[in-house]
Amino acid sequence: MNFGIIGCGVIAFTHAMALKALKGEGCVLYACCDTVPERADKYAKEHGVQKVYYDDEAILADPDVDIVCVCVPSGIHGQICEMAARAGKHIVCEKPLEITPERAEAAAKAARDAGVKMQSIHQRRTMPSAIAVRNAVREGKLGRVCLAEADLRYYRDQAYYDSGDWRGTWELDGGGAVMNQGVHGVDLILWMLGGEVESVYGRAATLAHDIDVEDTAAAVLQMKDGSVCVIKSATSAYPGFSTAFVIHGSRGTVAFNDEGITEWRFIDEADAPARPDKVGGAMGGSGSNVNIAIHGHITLLRDIAQAVREDREVMLPPEDAIPAIRVICAIYESSRTGLPVRL
Ligand SMILES: NC(=O)c1ccc[n+]([C@@H]2O[C@H](COP(=O)([O-])OP(=O)(O)OC[C@H]3O[C@@H](n4cnc5c(N)ncnc54)[C@H](O)[C@@H]3O)[C@@H](O)[C@H]2O)c1
Repeated sequence: MNFGIIGCGVIAFTHAMALKALKGEGCVLYACCDTVPERADKYAKEHGVQKVYYDDEAILADPDVDIVCVCVPSGIHGQICEMAARAGKHIVCEKPLEITPERAEAAAKAARDAGVKMQSIHQRRTMPSAIAVRNAVREGKLGRVCLAEADLRYYRDQAYYDSGDWRGTWELDGGGAVMNQGVHGVDLILWMLGGEVESVYGRAATLAHDIDVEDTAAAVLQMKDGSVCVIKSATSAYPGFSTAFVIHGSRGTVAFNDEGITEWRFIDEADAPARPDKVGGAMGGSGSNVNIAIHGHITLLRDIAQAVREDREVMLPPEDAIPAIRVICAIYESSRTGLPVRL
């Protein structure tokens, strides 16, 4: 299965490492493309890539490329995914799938219409602790979910925002602490809860950086089942706390952070699900954008390669990535108007 990387920046390194780990399973980092030729050349040299392109149409026209990984700035994910789908390539798209729900829906539709597989990258969904919490919710082990909390505390310095023209812009980043970093946790808590969001009230501010978008935000989500979900997200949380999740139900409380489960308490202990292992969940990224763990990417890239071979659905289809984007855009709208947004 020949992979082509589109956008040879920071996250492309994680894709290269993941593909290296999957080499024995028939996954090859075959081609790369960056519109800045020096970046494509450097990446090809560092990772032993056979074909180098500086033009998206050219890499997509290469008949030997089976799957492309879209690693370009967030606000052009949709257009590259749509081009890739039209070219008949299977697609891995970095988070966020796009920066508005409408554009994300268009990208998902393009992949469906073309009959290509499309995997969204939300690597935290592979965390053992998140999977165990989701299962506990689905199996009713927590009783009725009442309050869910996501503390998405990241640290990014001004140099991070200055390291790329697109970073911290509405046009290409689509937002700040929530759309770029927090999207991981927004996606995760919605996935663990499984329910639908009725309304969103959000406040966002730019307090610690010289950027257009927010570096600090908080939101309250009213879920359709009556439960309440609180999300805090920041890139102003010096010096880089762990992200943390808590779900309180009528029959118990579970919590985890980047290192694993921190609370696993059930009123009915005899019926409690097994507490997942503490290790193996850390994903990195809290304190810096260059220390992203590769195991989640390995799982998702392996899965799309197998899905193509077996002609089955991928683990994280594009439609699954859209609810988080819808909620994040609602947080921004609510913050602008001062009013809750009904979804
Ligand atoms: N999953 C994660 O944990 C994670 C972590 C970091 C970044 N990301 C996502 O990955 C994407 C890229 O982030 P990054 O930090 O690697 O950015 P980056 O700026 O380091 O790299 C982006 C690269 O894309 C290139 N590029 C721009 N337009 C292009 C085009 N049309 N065709 C080909 N190349 C083009 C740029 O020249 C640059 O080299 C973002 O959407 C970001 O949200 C995900």
